[in-house]
Amino acid sequence: MRIALTPGDGIGPEIMQATLHLLQAAGASAAMEFVPVEMGKACFDRGLTRGMTDEAIATVEQCGLLLKGPMETPKGGGGKSINVTARKMWNAFANLRHFRTLPGVMTPYSRSGVSVDFFIVRENIEDTYGGIEHRLSNDVVQCKRLISAPGSDAVHRFAFETARRLGIRKVHCGHKANIMKMTDGLFLERFKAVAADYPEIETADVIVDALCMNLVMKPQQYRMIVLPNLQGDIVSDLAAGLVGGLGFAPSGNIGNHISIFEAVHGTAPDIAGRGIANPCSLILSSLMMLRHVGLLGSAARLENALLSSLEQGVRTGDFGDAAKPALGTMDFVREVAKRLGQKPATTPAVPDADDRITFKPPVKPFSAAAVHTFGPGTTEVVGADLYVDAAEGCQAIAASLQALAQGTPFRLKLISNRGTQVWPTGSVYTDCVDYWRARFERVEGARVTQPQTIDLLQRVAARYTVCSYELLRTFDGKPGFSMAQGQ
Ligand code: NAI
Repeated sequence: MRIALTPGDGIGPEIMQATLHLLQAAGASAAMEFVPVEMGKACFDRGLTRGMTDEAIATVEQCGLLLKGPMETPKGGGGKSINVTARKMWNAFANLRHFRTLPGVMTPYSRSGVSVDFFIVRENIEDTYGGIEHRLSNDVVQCKRLISAPGSDAVHRFAFETARRLGIRKVHCGHKANIMKMTDGLFLERFKAVAADYPEIETADVIVDALCMNLVMKPQQYRMIVLPNLQGDIVSDLAAGLVGGLGFAPSGNIGNHISIFEAVHGTAPDIAGRGIANPCSLILSSLMMLRHVGLLGSAARLENALLSSLEQGVRTGDFGDAAKPALGTMDFVREVAKRLGQKPATTPAVPDADDRITFKPPVKPFSAAAVHTFGPGTTEVVGADLYVDAAEGCQAIAASLQALAQGTPFRLKLISNRGTQVWPTGSVYTDCVDYWRARFERVEGARVTQPQTIDLLQRVAARYTVCSYELLRTFDGKPGFSMAQGQ
């Protein structure tokens, strides 16, 4: 089994060396060939804006597995986060993280005897992480938030499959569907639809703000939570804080073809090169990788050795009992290696298992797949939202837009500003910026087509800059657009 390997920047090479030392000591390396690939700062410095070489991309695609250290993201400029690029380019659509109380890692919860042990599955590709951003007017920028039914289905199915594999009996869906009724609403609707295939697993949904409070107040009530991308990102770091910080949070980015295992923390430039970094996050991520490929026995041996070491006070300087000596990164893993074969005494040991490789390298698809959830239904054009850049007030804009729509099959239905209706009714207390949404709907009884909305757009564009346009359609009779606040 070939695994692409890139140590990363900052403390990356130190924690990678330590992790490989342990994999070797546990005998797991015998089944694996690590293939070094070039990614990260050195690539950005050479002007490679993707942060990786073409050879690295080819190798990762052949192997189907990447073990990576943290990488520096260039600040400002055009360079995008290599981590986000890698997850998106290779469709590693589900981010799986495990958060649990570890022995020897003191937290307010461990001190009060509360055991934390849950998983977060975060959608990894869609949402605002699409990075589709535009400046629309002098004062307004936008980020387009796309949530798709197939993307939601994939992450929910992964969550339920993982829950089934791990014997988890309840899965929560975190969301904000009370406000974002269409985007988060779809994410939640697909959660419920996919759940029907897993009748033995109980489900519940929770609004993300309440979820954050519940996690702090009573984290033991959760076993697995599935979330959209941005909310999942934030809640995952909150969860890491519950169990001792990012130094103990492993992460796997799982796709149908390619999966990436990485430490959750960054490159820690403040301690890089000093040999004192905590390697636990990358070690725990490599355990996720072992389980992903079927090396369950090696993973169990290694995890039990790590748990035994932690409960016996083996530690690096960033955690643990200050009365015990703080070890450097390599000394820490040497101590763990010495305990291979031991079982933890105070924490449940991971049951013994056999190593049996189930992973198969990906077969390269002929082309990118088009994925669908819903079959073609009946859609009807009912209008258009035209977004105009204008410095006037809403009454003046409404008057000109009504005049411009004369003789078309559309009438101006409403104007909103930052989502709040300001015409025909509104409040003088609503401050308005220079970007207005004008909603045109077909006049009663008219049948309209998209070209007619474009004619309307052209008329409006003769008077205003139309910054964006959204077609209003019904899908099987249901409106495919939200109402304005205050409509
Ligand atoms: P960071 O996670 O690198 O550091 C935050 C603090 O935690 C620092 O005080 C650091 O010393 C400490 N820390 C982090 N990992 C540690 C470890 N294993 N052992 C002991 N202490 C540790 O976050 P920061 O400073 O915001 O980011 C630094 C760089 O890392 C940036 O260029 C950022 O873009 C990149 N980054 C990369 C990630 C990745 O590759 N997955 C994730 C997060 C940040």
